[in-house]
Amino acid sequence: MSKKITFLGIETSCDETAAAVIRENDIETAEILSNVVSSQVEEHKRFGGVVPELAARAHLENIEFIIQQALNQSKISLKDIDGIAATAGPGLIVCLSVGLNIGRSIAAFTNKPFVGVNHLEGHALSPGLEKKIEFPYLLLLISGGHTQYLIVKDVNEYQQLGTTIDDALGEAFDKTAKMLDLGYPGGPAVEKFSKLGDKNYFILPEPIINKAGCNLSFAGLKTAVLREAKKIGDEKKLKYNLAASFQHTINKILLKKTEIAIQEFKRKTNKKNLHLVVAGGVAANLSIRENLKNLSKKNNCIVVYPSQKFCGDNASMIAWAGIKRFKKNLVDNLDIVAKSRWPLDANAPYMKGPGLKL
Ligand SMILES: Nc1ncnc2c1ncn2[C@@H]1O[C@H](COP(=O)(O)OP(=O)(O)OP(=O)(O)O)[C@@H](O)[C@H]1O
Ligand SMILES: [Mg+2]
Repeated sequence: MSKKITFLGIETSCDETAAAVIRENDIETAEILSNVVSSQVEEHKRFGGVVPELAARAHLENIEFIIQQALNQSKISLKDIDGIAATAGPGLIVCLSVGLNIGRSIAAFTNKPFVGVNHLEGHALSPGLEKKIEFPYLLLLISGGHTQYLIVKDVNEYQQLGTTIDDALGEAFDKTAKMLDLGYPGGPAVEKFSKLGDKNYFILPEPIINKAGCNLSFAGLKTAVLREAKKIGDEKKLKYNLAASFQHTINKILLKKTEIAIQEFKRKTNKKNLHLVVAGGVAANLSIRENLKNLSKKNNCIVVYPSQKFCGDNASMIAWAGIKRFKKNLVDNLDIVAKSRWPLDANAPYMKGPGLKL
C-alpha cells in the first residue's frame, strides 16, 4: 500500500487565521486530523468590514498558537509531516505574508517540501476533502472576493467560463447587510433575516440576466437595494422583506446563469452527466444550496457542496490543495512571494472597468 501523504496547511489571506493537518485516506479523500480556525469577526465588527492592518496584526499575534494547536490536536509531530502548504495569494499582501513567511520558515528548518497555494484553488478542490469527484467538473465559486464559473480540468488546470464584472457575491451580501443594518458578517445576517421577510415584496433588478453568457453583475442590484433601504428607514418588517427579496433575486440570477454555464460546460467537454461543485463562503447559504439543487434533475447534474465548515476560509482546503499539488510535483521554492491578484485561469479576459464590451 502506498504511503499516505500528510500536510500542514496554513491560511491567512483575509480575516481567518487557520491551520490544519490533513492526511489522504484509502478512498482518496481526506482524514482531517485537525482543523483550527480563529475568526477575527470581533475585531472587524465595529468597522463593518475587514481592516487590513488590524487583520495582519491579529494574524501575527495568533499564528504560532494556531499552528501549535493544529499540531497538538492532530497528534502528529512536525517530523512526521510530508510537507507544508500556505496560501500565497490572492488576498491582502500584509495578511498573506504572515502565513507564507511562517510556512516557509517551518519548511526551511524541517527541510520539508513547501507549496504556495492559490486560495481559489483551495476553494475549488475543497469538496474533495469529503468526496472523490472525477475531473472535469463545473465549479461555481462564490466567495467574498470572487464569483466565477470555471471548468476544473485537473489540479492546476482551469478554464474560466464566466465571472462577475463588478462586485463579488459575498460583497453584495455584506453590503446589503450593512445598508439594512442587519449585523456583521453580512452574509449569514441576510440569510437569517430573509427568513422573516416576504421575498416577493420588492421587485429588484437582475443585471445582465439576458446577455453576456454566464458572466454576472451585482452592482445595479446593490444600488437598487440602497435606494429602497433609504426609503424604508428603520421599519423592521420592510427591512426583512428587502433582505428576502435580495436573496430571492440572487437565487433567480444564479439559477439562470448556472443553467447557461452547464450548457457551456457540456459543449466544451462533451460530458453529458456532470458534477456541479459550489464552493466559497457564500456556498454556506442554505437557500442558495436548495435553489441550485433544483437544477440537478433538469440538467443531468449532481450538485456538490463542501460541508459548511469548509465553505468559508479554512486551512484544511489549503493543506488538501498542497497534497494534490505535491503529488504532481508542483512544489515551490522558498523564495515564492505573496500575490494580491492570482486568477485560476491566467488566459481569462479581465472583465472589469470602463470600456468593457458585453
Ligand atoms: N450564509 C451565508 N450567506 C451568504 N453569504 C455568506 C454566508 N456565509 C458567509 N457568506 C459570505 O461569504 C464571504 C466570505 O467567504 P470567503 O471566506 O470564502 O471569502 P474570502 O476568502 O474573503 O474571499 P475569496 O475567497 O474570494 O478570497 C463573505 O462575504 C460572507 O458574507
Ligand atoms: Mg475565501
